[in-house]
Amino acid sequence: MATTKTLADAFHETLKDVLFAERASVRALKKSAKTAKELDLKRAFQEHLEETETQIERLGEIFDIIGKAPRAKTCEAMQGIVAEMEEDLEDFGDSPASDDVLIGCAQAVEHYEMARYGMLKAWSEKLGYDEATPLLRKTLEEEKAADERLTRIAQQLAV
Ligand SMILES: [Fe+2]
Repeated sequence: MATTKTLADAFHETLKDVLFAERASVRALKKSAKTAKELDLKRAFQEHLEETETQIERLGEIFDIIGKAPRAKTCEAMQGIVAEMEEDLEDFGDSPASDDVLIGCAQAVEHYEMARYGMLKAWSEKLGYDEATPLLRKTLEEEKAADERLTRIAQQLAV
């Protein structure tokens, strides 16, 4: 049976999912910054942590723009990514591969965020949310830059 739900509803639901995901990402980044051995990597995590806090504020602005309260909804995908990260750190946290493994986990987070922000931006354009679109574009660019930075650091890590 068809429901009366709209793309605007899907946008709102995804926004709640992403708010949850970003809050989980803050916790993961704190842990990653603490765990990283290479100074460059530690710095990259710390800086993206600050960026992520701004992204959470930006999400709050978007909730405002669509006239909704900033409520989060459990994001099972992010919970899964974080659970895997914890498992990987248990297995490799003390190994010489720990920074590489940490980067791999962090990039899984970034790619999930990129997928979600890419979709939200496309929907925002379609829905004519002219104030929200540039905010989503900005965050998407930051996520891509964070991902590329991690790729560069990984390439420079010794085996
Ligand atoms: Fe991110």
